[in-house]
Amino acid sequence: MTTVLDVQRFKEEGRRFAVLTAYDYLSAKILDEAGIPVLLVGDSLGMVMLGYPTTLPVTVDEMIHHAKAVARGAHQALLVGDMPFMSYHASVEQAITTAGRFIQEGGMHAVKLEGGGRVVEITRRLTEMGIPVMGHLGLTPQFVHQMGGFKVQGKSDKQAARILADAKELEQAGAFGIVLEGVPSEVATSVSKALRIPTIGIGAGAGTDGQVLVFHDMLGITTGKAPKFVKRYANLAAEIAGAAQRYIEEVGDGTFPGPEHSYSAGSGSSNGSTAPATQRDEVKYGAG
Ligand code: KIV
Repeated sequence: MTTVLDVQRFKEEGRRFAVLTAYDYLSAKILDEAGIPVLLVGDSLGMVMLGYPTTLPVTVDEMIHHAKAVARGAHQALLVGDMPFMSYHASVEQAITTAGRFIQEGGMHAVKLEGGGRVVEITRRLTEMGIPVMGHLGLTPQFVHQMGGFKVQGKSDKQAARILADAKELEQAGAFGIVLEGVPSEVATSVSKALRIPTIGIGAGAGTDGQVLVFHDMLGITTGKAPKFVKRYANLAAEIAGAAQRYIEEVGDGTFPGPEHSYSAGSGSSNGSTAPATQRDEVKYGAG
């Protein structure tokens, strides 16, 4: 199983590593079996899975619901749960309570928090209590209104210096890694070089220690124009639509279900199936 110590060792050994978001049991299982070392139950699930316009409406209960499903599917990856907007901002006590739920109820191994400043103290306290923290700097979607939209951050020298200072403070406070989102490559590279802990980039160029992408973006399940930093490794939206259209047609013209997908009375009749009788007669959802 990947641990926070492994992730730190990756950096020491100069090994770049991949991170993906996961929001449900089956995709977590597939990614885990494919060897992904770190899975992030990101609050991006609010936009990707629940159709919210930003991540701000996502609640702790929604996050825990998805975290639990991911934890049931993945047994090798390090699981990081994203603490949603306003679930750690009121006080250190509130942050501890929320983080505790992610670990105890959600089955996560670590939590992720956005921003620097007051988050540094929260990071210190959670780390002291044995809850590993991943930081998140640059384009922090929970600050969307303050940033005036989802915009690249750190373009000015002043902003870049702030990101570097925040990153160093988070490292000092015990963060085991930091996501750098939507920052110029040069900034991400120099922050990565200045830290002992790994950086995980998204829209931050090739100079970070790891990379993270949203599962649905990477697989082309999300439709519409993808941001520049997304590479689509598959085009599953088109595959899914094509399969649905073939299914609609086959149900309409009576081609589906065929004899191989139907049960018949009496024992021993296979309807053309070569599966053992017990398996043939099993009526169960999700073969995973
Ligand atoms: O919520 C999320 O999925 C994230 C990643 C994109 C880094 O924060």
